[in-house]
Amino acid sequence: MTTRSCLSIVLAAGLGTRMKSDLPKVMHEIGGLPLVGHVLKALGRAGSDRISVVTGPDMPELATLVRDLAPHARCCVQTDRLGTAHAVLAAKPALELESDDVLVLFGDTPLVTPETIAKVRQGLERGADLVVLGFQTRNPFGYGRLLVENGRLVAIREEKDASEAERKVTYCNSGIMGITGKHALSLLEAIGNDNAKKEYYLTDAVEIANERGLTVVAVTGSETETQGINTRAQLAACEAAFQNRMRHAAMDEGCSLLAPQTVFFSHDTKLDADVIVEQNVVFGPGVKVSSGARIRAFSHLEGATVGTGSVVGPYARLRPGAVLGSDTRVGNFVEVKNATFGPGAKVNHLSYIGDASVGSKSNIGAGTITCNYDGYLKHRTEIGANSFVGSNSTLVAPVKLGNGVFVSAGSVITDNVSKDSLAFGRARQVVKEGKAKVLRERLQAEKDAKY
Ligand code: UD1
Ligand code: MG
Repeated sequence: MTTRSCLSIVLAAGLGTRMKSDLPKVMHEIGGLPLVGHVLKALGRAGSDRISVVTGPDMPELATLVRDLAPHARCCVQTDRLGTAHAVLAAKPALELESDDVLVLFGDTPLVTPETIAKVRQGLERGADLVVLGFQTRNPFGYGRLLVENGRLVAIREEKDASEAERKVTYCNSGIMGITGKHALSLLEAIGNDNAKKEYYLTDAVEIANERGLTVVAVTGSETETQGINTRAQLAACEAAFQNRMRHAAMDEGCSLLAPQTVFFSHDTKLDADVIVEQNVVFGPGVKVSSGARIRAFSHLEGATVGTGSVVGPYARLRPGAVLGSDTRVGNFVEVKNATFGPGAKVNHLSYIGDASVGSKSNIGAGTITCNYDGYLKHRTEIGANSFVGSNSTLVAPVKLGNGVFVSAGSVITDNVSKDSLAFGRARQVVKEGKAKVLRERLQAEKDAKY
């Protein structure tokens, strides 16, 4: 890794009017993480030393996100949104401090990888004064075009300012730019706003650097990584690219996806090697699945931990705080929330287990419900090890069942059940012999008398 110091500036103040949203553009999500969060994560992995994030004056949730993901990053506010060069200058105090390299990244370009960030920095290390990350695309509409003459990057032309011929250029600007620290501020301050949008374009730094005889180069990245998001359709395209990346990463790590295109990941999903994921599974944020577990079709997991050798689904729902030990079973139409399962515990059919603990090797019968909420407060249900809860039981929390308890089917359990006890919580069965026949005859006679 390079020893040169680097200031990274992430632009995130733009309103993104084409998204038609009340949410700042960079707070829209890919894989459950705001766009700018992806950029901050990539910078973190690239080992960036100083980071400034340029926000708008009305984006408190963005400042909170930055604090969470990159606590050492500084937020600077761009009060008027007058373009990307103007936005970079909102970080002027940081630019005035000495750094070897200045890196500008866009908060709406979330798929950039640490390797690509390193590639831009290598350009500077090898002696360039300004490095632009470009990409080739079949659909360049909306992007700044990289104008290259005799192998030299001479200018970047924005869509609205481009001539007919320039619009045909398919080599585009990703928005990621590296500038040597000693030239950055003076280049940025030389940029004017004499263009179609009357904005201060960061891209004009290229022509100015050329006029000053500085070395300007373009390096090329993949289109998948460098695509920017200005519209909802581009957000969806980027989500699709991100999902593909996650699917391939999971398979590379030794996880089997039976139908990769139907499995959806969160940015932080962690699957160990030898996990099998069947068709149509959705991972929300905060899921960890250990080796040898199988997630069966049509399951939805969020904030959940699945232990080694466990089987979840088909059609299971694990909500935040579901912690399944090893070799557990959570079957079809079972919802688990904020509940721990000891090794070998099973709940196989049609149940709700919330705010609970289930001891190892306990078996929860079909249709069991933990009544955790009384309309005001949540309460816990504790079930010991090696217990058996019969089907269609209702466990009214707060309630504790010890180890080795047996609850008969159809019980409503409101009181604690001590170790090795058998609990009934239902009316005793009554059988009246021959009475069904008598009843039938009486009803038939009533019907005959009427018609
Ligand atoms: C920009 C580039 C274009 C490039 C494209 C790549 C310029 C002038 N154009 O166009 O060459 O091909 O990105 O996706 O740089 N922002 C601010 N303050 C502002 C304006 C923008 O913080 O005043 C931020 C936005 O939040 C966004 C980023 O800068 O994250 C880029 O702005 P955007 O308006 O999306 O520029 P594009 O039109 O996409
Ligand atoms: Mg953009």
